Amino acid sequence: MDNVHRYFATTVGLVTSHHDGKSDVMACEWTMCVSWNPLKILVMVWNGHLTHEYIKASGEFGVNLCSDQLASQSNLAGSVSGREKNKLDDSLFKDRLSPAKKIKAPLIEGCIVNAECEVEESFVLGSYTGFIGNAVEAKFDDQAKPMFYHQGKYFYLGDQIPKS
Ligand SMILES: Cc1cc2nc3c(=O)[nH]c(=O)nc-3n(C[C@H](O)[C@H](O)[C@H](O)COP(=O)(O)O)c2cc1C
Repeated sequence: MDNVHRYFATTVGLVTSHHDGKSDVMACEWTMCVSWNPLKILVMVWNGHLTHEYIKASGEFGVNLCSDQLASQSNLAGSVSGREKNKLDDSLFKDRLSPAKKIKAPLIEGCIVNAECEVEESFVLGSYTGFIGNAVEAKFDDQAKPMFYHQGKYFYLGDQIPKS
């Protein structure tokens, strides 16, 4: 069973968070829109991540859905903890940050979707916590293309498949 999850194809959210004057970002393949009107987004975050600590403490998070230009940013956000390095200070992120309107966590430019979320509900699932965020602000870029993650590699959106 160990490798089954690697066979899913997902998009990748860069989840931003903020607590006590400090901000963080992590890559989150388990980012999912779970209601469109009102817009609600679920993120599944391992209980040991700094992101988990910040979201729990602040009750807020940002969802920045990676475009196909952000593989390096996803790789950094997903391979180093904010406990070891301030990832948002890295040149990969520094020039891409913009302030959110309603939450304290920053947003990341160049994404296909940016959403500002307030935690509405959370649940513990083993060593992970699901945070369901109610989006209080959100925007999309219809020129950007999503990036996909499958078996540890990043992919572009492929050709459209006819429905019949
Ligand atoms: C592409 C990718 C997707 C990831 N998806 C998740 C995820 O859905 N949930 C999770 O808890 N960790 C996920 N991770 C791992 C975290 O992003 C990683 O451990 C990160 O360093 C945690 O950062 P933090 O301690 O600063 O919060 C993913 C990593 C990568 C590379």
